[in-house]
Amino acid sequence: MFDLIPYLEKKQKLVNDSLRQIINHTISHERLVSAVNYSLMAGGKRLRPILCLAACEAVSGTYDQAISAACALEMIHTYSLIHDDLPAMDDDKLRRGKQTCHIKYDDATAILAGDALLTYAFQILSSNKPKTYEQAANWITVINNVSTAAGIGGMVEGQIRDVTSEGTQLTLDQLEKIHLLKTGALIKSAITSGAILGYGTSIMIEQLEIYAENIGLAFQITDDILNVEGDPRVLGKETGTDQNRGKNTYPALLGISKSRELIKGKINNALQALDNFDNKSDPLRAIAQYIIVRKK
Ligand code: IPE
Ligand code: IPE
Ligand code: MG
Ligand code: MG
Repeated sequence: MFDLIPYLEKKQKLVNDSLRQIINHTISHERLVSAVNYSLMAGGKRLRPILCLAACEAVSGTYDQAISAACALEMIHTYSLIHDDLPAMDDDKLRRGKQTCHIKYDDATAILAGDALLTYAFQILSSNKPKTYEQAANWITVINNVSTAAGIGGMVEGQIRDVTSEGTQLTLDQLEKIHLLKTGALIKSAITSGAILGYGTSIMIEQLEIYAENIGLAFQITDDILNVEGDPRVLGKETGTDQNRGKNTYPALLGISKSRELIKGKINNALQALDNFDNKSDPLRAIAQYIIVRKK
């Protein structure tokens, strides 16, 4: 049986060490570096970078290239959280068990820390020195995928749909679209990046995309459920906030038990997409199962 906990811990350490190295070499204004470091190293689960590495493994690749994509993805994710928590967005005071960036520093610093992380991610992605034509082409594909996923028709579109629909009643299809964009898109790009940089075949990448879409949606529906019934001390963020802000969520629309059923279906779809993979994709299988039971 594959043991997920030590796997996650090992990968978290690898990602944290790599991120720390990047930050330690960053020369900039002290307050900006301090805010970036504060949010980046506040104790996130590192799910996106770990998925990137696990997808690379699943296609029998090695990490030498995927690790820098993994770090860039975590930087983009952390930027999105800093901005998501701002008073003009979700107005949250707790994140990763600590004060949100704008509470610890101030709004201007938090906005700029987010800007810095987003652009830094693409600086990292484009700093690799490819040794072959194929490597160069792969990096361009990865940069295109990640920027598309994070940008105007991806995560940012999901976020504007989310904030502009507060207090309105969306259909299930409209809500699914928000979740696929605001959360699913970046998760999917993490998985495809890892698979591309591990030299996965196009058939493998297609299957991994199905896996990714399903776990991305399941992950955000679980986030909605944890906002209703999670323990803030474990979760590291306040609960009940979605209802207070009139957010459209799966539990609000369908109730908790229907939402859970839906998640199970998504996880089954994700696992099925891995049917033709060997045991190198066991970490991806275990992560899919973990998404249903996670408490943070
Ligand atoms: C929280 O993401 C925001 C969502 C997109 C649901 P995570 O639950 O991965 O947060 P961290 O990185 O562990 O803090
Ligand atoms: C976060 O969505 C999505 C992004 C940051 C892109 P939520 O606003 O639902 O997540 P939490 O609950 O604040 O982590
Ligand atoms: Mg939000
Ligand atoms: Mg939020």
